[in-house]
This record gives sequence, C-alpha cells and structure tokens, in this order.
Amino acid sequence: MAPHVSPPSPPLSSSASSVASDDGEVYDINVPYKKSGNFTKQPATPYPEYLPAWEEVSFPPIQPFTYDDPALRADPKKRALLTPSVTATDISPKMGTELQGVQLSTLTSQQRDELALLISERKVVVLRDQDFADIGPEAQQNFSDYFGKRHYQPVTGAIPGYPGFHIIYRDGNQAEIERFFEQKSTANIWHHDVSYERQPPGYVLLCMLQCPEVGGDTVVASMTEAYKRLSPGFREMLDGLKATHSSQRICDFARNNGGLCRKDPVKSLHPIVRVHPVTGEKSLFVNDEWITGIQGWKQSETEWLLKYLMDHISRGHDFQVRLQWKPRTVVMFDNRSTCHTATVDYDGVYEKERHMFRLASMCEKPICVGDIEEPESQE
Ligand SMILES: [Fe+2]
Repeated sequence: MAPHVSPPSPPLSSSASSVASDDGEVYDINVPYKKSGNFTKQPATPYPEYLPAWEEVSFPPIQPFTYDDPALRADPKKRALLTPSVTATDISPKMGTELQGVQLSTLTSQQRDELALLISERKVVVLRDQDFADIGPEAQQNFSDYFGKRHYQPVTGAIPGYPGFHIIYRDGNQAEIERFFEQKSTANIWHHDVSYERQPPGYVLLCMLQCPEVGGDTVVASMTEAYKRLSPGFREMLDGLKATHSSQRICDFARNNGGLCRKDPVKSLHPIVRVHPVTGEKSLFVNDEWITGIQGWKQSETEWLLKYLMDHISRGHDFQVRLQWKPRTVVMFDNRSTCHTATVDYDGVYEKERHMFRLASMCEKPICVGDIEEPESQE
C-alpha cells in the first residue's frame, strides 16, 4: 500500500536542538525525531543525501498480508551463497556470522534465499566492505523488499521520495549528549524493531555510512538462548502469555516535541514466546520499548515480569554479540529471534557522526507456541 505524499517540508535546519523536549522528556539519542534534532552542528557526513527529511506523508493502517519467507525455499546447504570463495566466520558459538567474499548488491534470488536462511539460523550476519551504500536508494529498497513487505517508520526521518528508509543519525555534540545523560544512566534501549506492528519485521538491514573510529557498537541478544536458559516450568508459564505492543508513546513523543507521526498509533497483541517459522525455535518476544501490558495481568505484575526478563536478557552476555561498525558495513539480523540496543560511548572522544540507514521487511504474525501444538487454532 503506497503512502500518500504531500509537498515536502522545509529543508533541514542545522540549528541547535536536542532529543530532549523543553520539559526534559528524552527518548532515543541515536535518532532525530524532528528536522533539527541531532543537528547541533553542520553535518559532515559523506552521504548528505541520506540525511533525514520529514516529508508530509501519511501511512494508512497495514492490512493483514500473506508472507512467503524466502528462507523456506532456500537450499539448506546454501551452496549458491557459501561458495568456496566465501568465508563464513562465527562471531560467537550460537549466533552471528561474518561473511567475507559476498557483495549483497550482486546476489541472485537463490543466493538471497540462502542469505535469509543463514540469517534465520545465525540471527545476525555481518558483511564488511560492501558497495551497498553506493547503489542508490531504489536498488537498496528493492533489495530489502525481497525479504518481506516494506515497513514505513512513523516518526523518524527518511530520505526524500523513499519513506521506507529509517535514518539513524547522531553527531558527536558533547553538550547534547551530556544533557541526555543528565536523565539517563545509559543510552541502551533493548528492543525489537517496531514490534507493535501486527506483522513486525523479520529481516532488518542496517547500512553504516559514517561512524566514529571506535564506539557506537550495536549489541544483539539471542532471544532463543535467553528462552532456553529459563527453567522448564518458567518457560511453560511464559508460553501461554501474550503482551500488548504499542507505538502510542513514540507517536506522542514526536507530536509533543515538534515532530511528525505519519501513521496513527498501532497496538498489537503478541505472544511472549514466539515460534520461528524457519527454524522452529522458540524465542522470547519481549522488550523495553514497546510493551504496555500483559494480557490478563495487573500492571504491577507486568512490571515485575518484564523487569525480570529484561534484566535476564540485558545481563546475559553469554548469549549476546557486540557488533563493531565500520563505514560500508552492512548488518542483517533476524528481528524475530533477537533484540538489540545501540551504545553511546564515543562522546567527548570521537567527534565523527554516526550515520546509518535501516530498511525493514515485515513478515508473518508472530506464531504462538499454542499455534504449533494446536494447528486448528491458527489464525
Ligand atoms: Fe533498532
């Protein structure tokens, strides 16, 4: 469904501003939510055409859609992708693979299918020295669309004419980051990307355009391993729970702080344990950003359980990987079986901007454990 596009908004301003509103409310310091947000100095990115812009676009509600996962048609041995000239290196034993000898821009359909399978199995795939940043937004968007239905982020900046781009941009302005940390002890927000959607993204692509020499890593947790570490009785309780995920807060934040919300808030009820359609693995599907309640539970009970689970996930360094960025690095991850957070540690040391784009491909409605055990109850 194509978005409705109105005349573009005025050009970006480089005037001082903050991710904090006048009354001090803060959100994610890595992402600008308005035209001047994070633009505390003149941008010096080598990709100025990818700086965020806020077109007056309205996105209609997403209707349920049929999803065909490319991983399900892949050769299990991945013989087209993992040729003898390609090196696949494990980042950690149970998740994360770095591929060398692959250019995303040249992959055939068969190779893309196998890449989808590799992402489903290994959860994170890192590709260095890609020409992907230079193939243009049309080809970049088309590549992402192969993996699922295009997602439009409601509040963050995109690039003109391509509302599917979610632009992550942070300059090294020390004063703004200090202001943020006056309220926050960490910039970490453990999240799945836009899990409030009825059919949230399964495959997510991040392409780094410019970044500090050191720092600004992304940490990714395996929600499959996080689930496995729990005891059988605790897992059984979680298997039957559902949580509400909502975009209301981010929409309110944007509207209250001079930004745009281009799609009415979305609320979805998802299982707390979801089953991966490709691997059959069960994974925790909870995060710190989007969940507003657990079905049938009181608020205090919800807060207690989420705090326990998010402590478990964020402290579980034995089921996490920490990804270090370089310009022209592309990361693709499985948004179904992982959650992730950015880090902000470069302020005051490295002044280079952190500038990347995200393309997200929506997939199936999260599958409940009960849906697998009782097929007749499938939606
Ligand atoms: Fe994210």
